[in-house]
Order: sequence, then C-alpha cells, then structure tokens
Amino acid sequence: MRAYDIIKKKRDGAELSKEELSFLITEYLSGKIPDYQMSAFLMAVYFSGMTDAETIALTGLMLSSGSRLDFSDISAPKVDKHSTGGVGDKTSIILAPLMAAMNIKVPMIAGRGLGHTGGTIDKLESIPGFRTDLSIKEFKGNIKDIGFSIISQTDEIAPADKKLYSLRDVTATVESIPLIAASIMSKKLAEGIGGLVLDVKVGKGAFMKNINDARKLARTMVNIGNSMGVKTIAIITDMNQPLGQTVGNGLEIKECISALRGKMPDDLKEVVLTLGAWMAYVADCVTEEAGIAKLPEHVLIKYKSELMDLIEKGDAFKKFVEFVDAQHGNPEAAFKPDIIPSASKVKEIRIPAKGYIREMDAEKAGMAAMLLGAGRQHKEDRVDHSAGIVLNKKTGDYITPDEPVAIFHYNDETKIKEAEEVFLSGIRTGEIPPDRKQIIIDV
Ligand code: URA
Repeated sequence: MRAYDIIKKKRDGAELSKEELSFLITEYLSGKIPDYQMSAFLMAVYFSGMTDAETIALTGLMLSSGSRLDFSDISAPKVDKHSTGGVGDKTSIILAPLMAAMNIKVPMIAGRGLGHTGGTIDKLESIPGFRTDLSIKEFKGNIKDIGFSIISQTDEIAPADKKLYSLRDVTATVESIPLIAASIMSKKLAEGIGGLVLDVKVGKGAFMKNINDARKLARTMVNIGNSMGVKTIAIITDMNQPLGQTVGNGLEIKECISALRGKMPDDLKEVVLTLGAWMAYVADCVTEEAGIAKLPEHVLIKYKSELMDLIEKGDAFKKFVEFVDAQHGNPEAAFKPDIIPSASKVKEIRIPAKGYIREMDAEKAGMAAMLLGAGRQHKEDRVDHSAGIVLNKKTGDYITPDEPVAIFHYNDETKIKEAEEVFLSGIRTGEIPPDRKQIIIDV
C-alpha cells in the first residue's frame, strides 16, 4: 500500500477501506508518513467528505491509538455530555455534580479554550489550587467516591487525534464534519462510558454556523456512538448569543456556583435541565439495556423537576464542594466566591442608543473576552482567569444609554479599546423586540 494512492483515491471521491485508513493512521503515527502527505489527505477529506463507514473506521482507529478507560467495576451507569463549543457555555460544570447527585457517574475528559470559544478546564483552573492533571487512578477514585471527576486530556487518550488535530489546525482542515466527528468521538468513547449526550451548538458563536451542518454533525456523531456500543443522542442548541450572563473563566465559575445554589438565568437553566434530563434518561436506558426513543414532553418535564429538586435541596452544590476538594482546589471558594481571583479593573460598556437588543453576536463577545485576556489566540497562550465580561443585558432586553449593556473585567489595558469595538460591533438594536428564539432547537 502507498500513501500516494490512498490520497489520490480520496481526492477523487472514492470510499477507502478500513485497511487503507488503518495503514494511513498507523504509518503516520510511526513517522513513516510525513506531515505533507497527511496534510494532503486531510484536505482531500475536507473536499470529498467521508462515508459513515469510513468515519466510523477512522474513529475506531483514533480511539485504539490510545487506551480506553475501564470502569466496569463501577456498577452505576456512566454517562457523559459533550458540547461542540461555544461562548459562555458552562453547562458541564453544573451538570456533572447534578448528575452525581442523581447517582449517575460522569467521567469527563474536557478541553481548553481556543479563539473565541471557552474551555471547561480553563474555567475550573480559576479555582485556587484546582488540578485537572490527575492520574487515572485518582480520576477513577473520584468517580467512585463523589460520582464525577473532570480532567484534562492525557497523552494516553487518542494520541492519533492529538497529532492530527495539530496538523488540521495549521492546514485549514478543522472545519470538516467527518474529521470533527471522529476527533470528538474518539476521545469521548475512550472514557469507558455507557451513554453520551452531545450538545451540538449552532449559530454565530459555534463551529457550525447553519442548522443543516449542525444536523449533519449531530447525526454523524450519534451514528458513531451507537455503532460503537455507547448509547448516544444529540441536542442541537442555539449559540447565536453567549449562554448565561458571563463570559470568562473565573466569572463563569462564579455563575456556576450561583446556579448550583438555585439561581440561573433562563437560557442557561433551559440548556442545563434539558441536557440533564436526557442524561438521566440515557442512564436509565444504559441500566435497563433499552434502546433510546424520542421522549414525550411529560417525561422530560418529570426528569427536569427531579433535577431542580436536587439543586434546591443543595445536593448538587454539595457534590461540587466535594469535587473541588478532591481535585486539590480550595473548597471555601464555593461558599465565598470572592476567593476566586477578580480583575483589577472594570469598565462599563454602553450603547449610545436606546431600543431593544435584536442581536448580540456570540463570536464577537467571545473575541472581545479573548482580547481582555480570558482566551487564547494561539494554543500556547496563557489565559487570565480573572478577565471576562458580565452581560447585564441580552437579546430581547430594552436598553438605554444610561445603563451599561456589559461590564468588562480586565488587568491588561492594551486591548481594551479593540475589545470594546469588537463587542459593540456584534450588537444590533431596534425599536421592535426580536422574535423569541427557541434555545433548544432539535433532539
Ligand atoms: N473539538 C475537537 O475535539 N475536535 C475537533 O475537530 C473540533 C472540536
């Protein structure tokens, strides 16, 4: 077999066999296929796509390039959720303790933020002392004892994805549905889970800018998960404006703490409870060895109300405190969020007009937060955990020049003007309120 022939075959739109894909991945990992040939292959996939069979085979090869965690000695159902990335998306940090309070185990391996999107790991690391680089033994111990743990990607999990993703990042081949699906699913399937709920974001702040692509990505990932024995469903949610009231690591953790104590803005609550209800249902399907069906509304409502009870009784908050403690963070932070570092400067951001906010572009809000120091332009950049944006108003709210639409939190002044321009360029106002958009678009 020759890499040249495989690249040519994909370039011309033909389907590759599992053996051909296996040859490509194995030889690439061993250094026998150089980056320039793999880059050409990735570009061929970008243009020609992949069949379901190819995508499943590629995922399996990436998964088996590393180890797959084994939690079979833990009898409770193990279910994770994964979001395809957004702005202000802090749902994992609320959902994992909430599910643990329901006796569902959540072994979560999460990522860092890049560009305008945030990452769960950066958010958690704003808690003083908090560690996400636990050994697999500690990870497993926390899942057994507390019910969940959240760690960063290790070298043992899907190393082929790590190498391929770095290459995609510099060859403009990230935005390919089969490559995104295989990359995400190879890491999630390595977690040793029985069920998975995917939050596929669509809109200005998401990878997928239109609903057709979001549906295609969702179907591709669901198909991979189910064909590999993990009960998988996907929820498509709106990411045109930031989720909740904060964007930026420490600020988002403070919002999570307040959410776990029962105070959540409506949009965040809707996404958390919907994903949580589906996680609970998927866990039941795992336990009962049943197939997944589309849930009737009254069943979803029942799950949501059980979840709200666990928040109101303080059970989810208690799990969060145990988790922070077990991952070497200061658990006092949950009771006194002021312990989480705050920025030295704040600036009120105003709009010189009055009217209804018709649009608040999530990508621009994410870019502005990144310029304030909350995110990374390049993978190796450090983030400022205290920087970010508090949104006083969101789409649909009425605003006048007397009230700030947002408060910027920052330490470094150098990009404040640019951040303000970028943020404000994403806001449109008008005399008529916008139509209310559903945040849960499809299941
Ligand atoms: N997240 C991933 O893990 N992989 C991708 O390809 C895109 C987003």
